[in-house]
Amino acid sequence: MSIQMSRRDIVRGLIGGAAGLTMAPMSFANLGPPPGMIALRYNENPYGPSPGALKAAGEAAALGAYYADDLQEPLLRTIATRHDVALENMVLSSGSNEALQAAFVAWGKKGKIVLPSLTYSDHLDYAQRMGVELVRVPLADDLSIDLDRIAAAVSDDVSLVYICNPNNPTGHTLDGDALRDFCRTVGKRAVVMIDEAYNEITDRPDYTSMIDLVREGENVIVMRTFSKIFGMAGMRVGYGIGRPDVAKTIADYVMAWPNGVGLAAAQACYTDDKFIQFSRSKIFEGRKMVVDTFLDNGIKPLPSQANFVFADIGRNGGKFQGQMAEHGILIRGRFDQYPDYIRVSMGRIEDIKIFRTVFTELINA
Ligand SMILES: Cc1ncc(COP(=O)(O)O)c(C=O)c1O
Repeated sequence: MSIQMSRRDIVRGLIGGAAGLTMAPMSFANLGPPPGMIALRYNENPYGPSPGALKAAGEAAALGAYYADDLQEPLLRTIATRHDVALENMVLSSGSNEALQAAFVAWGKKGKIVLPSLTYSDHLDYAQRMGVELVRVPLADDLSIDLDRIAAAVSDDVSLVYICNPNNPTGHTLDGDALRDFCRTVGKRAVVMIDEAYNEITDRPDYTSMIDLVREGENVIVMRTFSKIFGMAGMRVGYGIGRPDVAKTIADYVMAWPNGVGLAAAQACYTDDKFIQFSRSKIFEGRKMVVDTFLDNGIKPLPSQANFVFADIGRNGGKFQGQMAEHGILIRGRFDQYPDYIRVSMGRIEDIKIFRTVFTELINA
């Protein structure tokens, strides 16, 4: 090969390469379920984001060159107004997970953190890597959170108590007034953090929420997210509502800066009751289908007030998760202390119909 030819090849290669770069079709294939698969694994709401949120996100993306600080306060004000709390009760974070992590690190420095033995855990792994000492309290026999046992575990060296209501992965929901009594008592000894990621899906969201205790000045912080009912898990917006000093401590430990696209979308859908009701009705419809699928196959799932259902299938859940995946359906198994359980998240109704067929076939195979 002559030098000339190879130069020509190089130039051609460069042009081809550049054209390839500019003309390559944009692919979001890695966002959402893998092609051909049905995702019932992460408790997302596939009916979101709402049309209004999508429009606002597009407009904000066009101004994505700029830092988005100015979108923060209007969103927090809107949320604060809805719950009749002050701006200093509010803290914003990149998904609620960031605020949970921030709280665990902040209070983990001051003492131990008490929590149920089976609960949402992504922030727990992080906290443990940061050297935070966790005290895990067993669930009651019916897999509900045992508030009495948790209260008994709150000794003088405990700084924070974490309660997820509804709990993930069980879907179990504590009675609002029982939890209120618990918060009032235990809050005298430690901060009580209530993770209400799924509150908007519960039967009685206001009764089940502890935000009224924040208005009363109790030692409580409530964590919420736009990832679940609002269907914005990939847009990373979460917030906390708590006593001003508690909210400020979390804000001091939060690292991510505001994400303009997420904030604009959140602002657009927060008061969109039509979309919230639509999502609730789809979740309820799907949940009944999943529950009926279990019951029809002789399996009694745990009662759930969230967008997922937890059930003992009488065989290894991790292995069954793998079998479902081979048939194109992603669910969750592998719950350490509960090896025979699986968790199925709500998806689109048409996806749940396929789940029903595949599950029934595999469980009877
Ligand atoms: C109970 C609970 N809290 C918090 C989160 C974190 O959600 P995000 O960080 O997307 O707000 C999840 C996610 O599944 C969850 O189940």
